[in-house]
This record gives sequence, structure tokens and C-alpha cells, in this order.
Amino acid sequence: MSVLSGKKIILGVSGGIAAYKTATLVRLFIKAGAHVQVIMTPASKDFVTPLTLSTLSKNPVHSTFYNEEDENAQWNNHVELGLWADLMVIAPATANTLSKMVNGNCDNLLIATYLSAKCPVYFAPAMDLDMYKHPSTVSSFRTLQQFGNTIIPAESGELASGLSGEGRMAEPENIVAFLEADLSSKLPLKGKKILITAGPTYEAIDPVRFIGNHSSGKMGFDIANEAANLGAEVILISGPTHFKVKNSQINLVRVVSAQQMYEACHEFYNDVDVAIAAAAVADYRPKNVAEQKIKKSEASFTIELEKTKDILASLGEIKNNQFLIGFALETENEIENAKLKIQKKNLDLIVLNSLQDEGAGFGKPTNKVTFIDKDFAIEPMELKSKEDVAVDIINKIINHYHA
Ligand code: CTP
Repeated sequence: MSVLSGKKIILGVSGGIAAYKTATLVRLFIKAGAHVQVIMTPASKDFVTPLTLSTLSKNPVHSTFYNEEDENAQWNNHVELGLWADLMVIAPATANTLSKMVNGNCDNLLIATYLSAKCPVYFAPAMDLDMYKHPSTVSSFRTLQQFGNTIIPAESGELASGLSGEGRMAEPENIVAFLEADLSSKLPLKGKKILITAGPTYEAIDPVRFIGNHSSGKMGFDIANEAANLGAEVILISGPTHFKVKNSQINLVRVVSAQQMYEACHEFYNDVDVAIAAAAVADYRPKNVAEQKIKKSEASFTIELEKTKDILASLGEIKNNQFLIGFALETENEIENAKLKIQKKNLDLIVLNSLQDEGAGFGKPTNKVTFIDKDFAIEPMELKSKEDVAVDIINKIINHYHA
């Protein structure tokens, strides 16, 4: 999945021949899953039509502060547009537009929106080679970067003038690749490796039967998705579930039993920065697994159970620098029991579910959790979707590294 997926992008188009390439650029943004609104300078409409860009962006194109010919015209609110955007891309950025950006010369909607935008701004210059090299253009590039904007450098090649050299707007594919690489490198969990356990475990009784539980795995998969979307490399070790992963940053390791989950966790643990145990691991398993299907010959039947290994406790024991997060599902003395678990399993944070809370627990789309950290600071949260609980958990990790 592209980092541009779900992003709100304002594309500012200024008046250069490269404006015709913005049709492809809008297509690529939409294909990457972004929402796009286009602002055109009046001059750019000579090079590409607003109808083309509104059709491709699936949104009306903005160009003037209001439509002079329409008595009922509405004011195009540049402040609203500027605040709507997650990022603004000015492509092509002509020498004229760059100079206006430098000086805040706000005589069109594009510059007014640029001055109102609080999001990251990228600009892709496009001009003839001598204009590109001119000290005033070079000075614009420098100043705009000092303002915090990012340049998407022009490419070399044949120019509209017939001359050949540097000044061609970067190809749309390269603009998208540049944005994806730049945004990815700034994600808050970039460079972090996170191990997550999810789902139930199945403990075999015989070749066709098992002891299991109702965990769906949703909580663990939601945490994995959120972590990967924010740049982490994720190892998701999951018991049997129907969930699939969509993000290539997630390495899904499917296991069945508690013992297999234990072994998979220890294979990866040494190498990770964070481990989150969201799995509902069976605490007991049949001591002997029948080789053949057990026949119903006896009136009553007893299965002797033995303890499985506590995976989370075993990770706590060998912890060196990992930030270790566990879950606790309690029915009574919740806080006290959870605190004991923090100590017993050497955790940095516990996510407590109380079965006394409606909407919390297995098989539900929602969860109500309380965070307790290793200093026993307690933070009760509202009832939320599991996706939003995943966001809260990931924010705890981000705070741990960036606070
Ligand atoms: N856990 C684990 N391995 C196990 C059992 C539990 O890794 N064999 C992890 C769970 O993923 C969860 C945490 O331990 O993060 C708490 O599990 P829970 O069942 O609530 O508590 P237990 O420590 O098993 O204690 P008890 O069942 O007695 O409450």
C-alpha cells in the first residue's frame, strides 16, 4: 500500500507547458488512494483544461477566489483548502510562481492557499535551462527550502524551447516516487521492528479435535496494520484466523499451537525493538495427543492437561532493550491483577481489558481498555473500535521513542 493512500493532496498547477503532464500526475495520485483537489493559476488553463483535471481528480477544480460571471458565486475559501490538505504539491512550479511564493505575492488562489497551508509543501520546478540556472531562480529554490518546503528537482532532457538541458519537470511517476520515499522516511516508526502475536492457539487432542478459544485475531491484526502504516517493519505471529495482511511491511507467520507461537517469537525476538503480545494463548494443552481419532466408547472421558509455556513471560525474562507490551483480560480485581502481571512478566505497558465492561473482549469490533505502565500510571480509555485502540497502543510506542 502506498503511503499516499488516504492522504489529502492539493495539487497546485501553474502555467508552463509541463502542466499537460498533471493529468497523469492526478491519475497516479488517485491510483495510490489519495484524495485530490486541484488549484490552477489562470495561466495554466492554456496548457491543460480544468475539465480534464476535475474529471480525473473527481473534484471541482479551483482557480479563482470566486466566479465573476456567476451572481450566486461562492467565495473559494483558500484557508479551508489549505487546512484540508495533508500535503500540497506545486507542479509544475514556474519561475513566476516560485518568485510569488518567496515574496508572498498573493494575487491568485494558488498562492493564497500556499500561504494558508500548514502541511508539508513540495514544488516541482519546470522551466527552460537558462531560467533554471538564473541566480534569481536559484535564490528562490534556496529561500523556499529555508521556509521548510521541499524541492522535487527538475530533470534533464529535451525542453519545449528545443534546447536540451536541466529544467524539465520531473516525470509524474518520479514525482510520486519522490513523495513516497520522502514521506516514508519521515514516518514515526521508520526503522523500528515490531513483533506482534495475534489470535487464538489450537491445542490438539487428536488428529481432528483441539482445545481453542474465541479470539478472532482482530486486535493483533489492527495493531500490525497501524504499525506498518507508520513505517514499522512488522513480524505478525498469528494463530488460526481468517484475516489476511495487505501491507508488504508485515511478515505474517502463521502458527497453530502455543508451542509453535513460542518458537516463532523466540526466533525473531532478539532482533526487534518492540513486542506486543495480543494473542489469546491457551494456558493448557492435552498432555498426550492421541495419534488416531478418539472413539466415543466410554460413558465419560477425561483429558489430562499440562501448562503451556507463557510466551510473554519468557520474552520478559530475556528482555534487553525491547519495549514489551502485554494484554490482560481480567474479571475481578482488574487493576491489582494487571499490576502483578506487569511485574511478573517484566512488562513496560499492559493493556487491560475488563470483561465487566460492555463492548470489550473477544469477537467484538470494539474494545475498552485501560493502560497501565511499568510505573503503575493508570490511563482508562473510552469504548472505541479496535482500530482506534490500535492507534492508541501505537501512540504509546511513538511517545516512548519520541517523547
Ligand atoms: N500470554 C502468553 N503466553 C501464554 C499466556 C498468555 O504470551 N501462554 C500473554 C497474552 O498474550 C497476554 C498476557 O500474556 O498478553 C496475559 O495473558 P492472560 O491470559 O490475561 O494472563 P495470564 O498471565 O495467562 O494469567 P491468568 O490466565 O492466570 O490470568
